[in-house]
Amino acid sequence: MNKKVLIRTYGCQMNEYDSELITGILTTAGYGVVTDPMDADIVMLNTCAVRENANRRVYGKIHDIRHKHPGRPVIGILGCIATNLKNKLLEDKHLKIDFIAGPDSYKRLPEIIQQACKTHNKIADITFSKIETYEDIVPERVEGVNAWVAVMRGCDNFCTFCVVPYTRGRERSRSVKNILNEVKQIAREGFPQVTLLGQNVNSYHDNSRDFADLLAEASKIEAIKRIRFMSPHPKDFSNKLIDVIANNPKVCKHIHLPLQSGNTRVLALMNRTYTKKGFLDLVDRIREACPDVVLTTDIIVGFPTETDNEFNDTVDVLKKIEFDSAFIFKYSQREGTIAAKKYPDDVPEEKKTARTVLLNELMQQTALKKNQAMISQTCEILIEREGNNRSENGWAGRTNGNKLVLIPDGDYKISQLVNVKITEATPHLLRGIPKS
Ligand code: SAH
Ligand code: SF4
Ligand code: F3S
Repeated sequence: MNKKVLIRTYGCQMNEYDSELITGILTTAGYGVVTDPMDADIVMLNTCAVRENANRRVYGKIHDIRHKHPGRPVIGILGCIATNLKNKLLEDKHLKIDFIAGPDSYKRLPEIIQQACKTHNKIADITFSKIETYEDIVPERVEGVNAWVAVMRGCDNFCTFCVVPYTRGRERSRSVKNILNEVKQIAREGFPQVTLLGQNVNSYHDNSRDFADLLAEASKIEAIKRIRFMSPHPKDFSNKLIDVIANNPKVCKHIHLPLQSGNTRVLALMNRTYTKKGFLDLVDRIREACPDVVLTTDIIVGFPTETDNEFNDTVDVLKKIEFDSAFIFKYSQREGTIAAKKYPDDVPEEKKTARTVLLNELMQQTALKKNQAMISQTCEILIEREGNNRSENGWAGRTNGNKLVLIPDGDYKISQLVNVKITEATPHLLRGIPKS
């Protein structure tokens, strides 16, 4: 009988996409994929190492499976914790796992799993590749309105706080031709939306063609209704890219633009390579070309040596820009990073908490203000599921700017575009009534 595998995914959209690649690789190799750990012969956790709590969740999950599972499934750790902690994972006596495989080793998984099932020796494949982009693998996509496509992998930016350059290796891009073929296939499968992914998506290049060229080409593919991308780095945001976003109706007017800090000294310590003024100027350029753009961001509070005054620069930038939403993270020291080697984690936990609370409160107000400004407007939403967060009847969809909109029950279907008049707003969602 075919062996059954279960894959649990943590972390970012790149990991979601990778799990679809892994599912593609393993089903081709004859494995069955299950969703209940009790049915699985092999359990794999595709992990994230970006912050401390991401690690803890995975350790908790492994203990859970070991305690609850009647048999003894083979357990593997994939993804960013595998390449971040390496053999330490296998040597940890409390963590009973059988193999680890990093983001560039997934084609070898059928072989690794076979070995792990046969022997009691622990197996590791965490080597990096300068060329692996999985161009030749057909991902087994999760059904829905959106299809992920990784256009580049790895990161060469080395922001000093970040573990990703060490967990995913060097940057490499796929060819434009290969990506467009995948997007065409996605269109044939009926997905109305594609999201182009990369750790630093706008540093994509294929010989002389850059990310703006790729975006322009992808938006020519007819059956695709919406194109999104994640995550751009402010330093690679060219005027040419702004023009392509502004002039292509299919490219969604939502930009997730990570700020990290509003203070120029802290930004330099982070190696972000832009200043407070540089970021504000970039947002001005974007808004000039796309007045309706929805901007979201990531912030880190309590980076080593960040003073109260320097934190106030972050508050100042958030007030000036008025992002539609923001993820606020407390600085978390990560093994192997430049910041971990150079700077003691010296901002006290209570200060990090107070700064997080302050920014979250500010963002609640801003988000509410931004959403309330949409009341009475008509927007086109792409229906993505039936029912809403409170399990009321109805449908949920997203605006072009990626805002969640709930509408009353009616005769709709997933992937349909519907014009909706916005009637209510909270900081996190909108409600509306379809226009006939
Ligand atoms: N490649 C993406 C970010 C990936 S990590 C980019 O550059 O935009 C997602 C977010 O996690 C980052 O934007 C940052 O805000 C946060 N993050 C990364 N490392 C962190 C750390 N050590 N402590 C706290 N937050 C961190
Ligand atoms: Fe990490 Fe910076 Fe690369 Fe983003 S750009 S993945 S924050 S090193
Ligand atoms: Fe996490 Fe790795 Fe993504 S560290 S955020 S899963 S690139």
